[in-house]
Amino acid sequence: MTANAKGPARLGVNIDHVATLRQARRGVEPDPVWAAAAAELGGADGITIHLREDRRHVQDRDLRVLRETVQVALNLELAVEPAMVAIAVETRPDQVTLVPERREEVTTEGGLAVASRREVVAEAVKRLRDAGIRVSAFLDPEPSEIDAAVALQVEAIELHTGRYALAREGRDRDAELKALEAAGARIVSAGVGLHAGHGLNYRNVGDVAAIPGMAELNIGHAIVCRAVFIGLEAAVRAMKDRIEAAG
Ligand code: PXP
Repeated sequence: MTANAKGPARLGVNIDHVATLRQARRGVEPDPVWAAAAAELGGADGITIHLREDRRHVQDRDLRVLRETVQVALNLELAVEPAMVAIAVETRPDQVTLVPERREEVTTEGGLAVASRREVVAEAVKRLRDAGIRVSAFLDPEPSEIDAAVALQVEAIELHTGRYALAREGRDRDAELKALEAAGARIVSAGVGLHAGHGLNYRNVGDVAAIPGMAELNIGHAIVCRAVFIGLEAAVRAMKDRIEAAG
């Protein structure tokens, strides 16, 4: 997915939760490959998967098959670990989003620490960029982290919207939105692609989609939850409609 400062943000559909359901029985269904196809039919601009080191949901086979079958952009979320970076270099997703990873967490908690781990992150960014893969970094809306990532020449920064999503509607959420808007302005003025994700749903996505310069939103849980009742294609279409209405 290339930078897109004008028009509505692109929607990357995270299908990890489909793989989680499959892994509950360690069987073959539901297949994330089918999910990607349905999401594309619903208008997804990208497919996002997180290949975790513990392989709790997405498997290496999923990445290989999705790389062959996905027609839109394939965004691979990845820990900053040499072995994981090597998998990306070999598989060549269109984009890698570098994320923090802890085995005991239920989902990704907090943004990547770049400022305190500059050399390790710089090495990963270089290896990926040298392989022709666009690199995004998943960060909290903290100026020092944004500046550190910009200095490492990432092509995009995905703002962690988890705090915004969890904040109570009203003053708390408004304050989190302001932090996202300020961080977004910093990223856009640095000439870096502005992405956001985590915890976004049909009710809270509009304000984030409307942040100036917002180019890409990566959304999974809310879409897969709605898909249980109305199907994935329709759930993706409904989210696209919300984003288009806001952007
Ligand atoms: N972006 C990143 C970097 C993530 O780690 C996740 C969760 O896997 C998402 C977006 C999507 O979050 P959610 O499933 O809450 O929509």
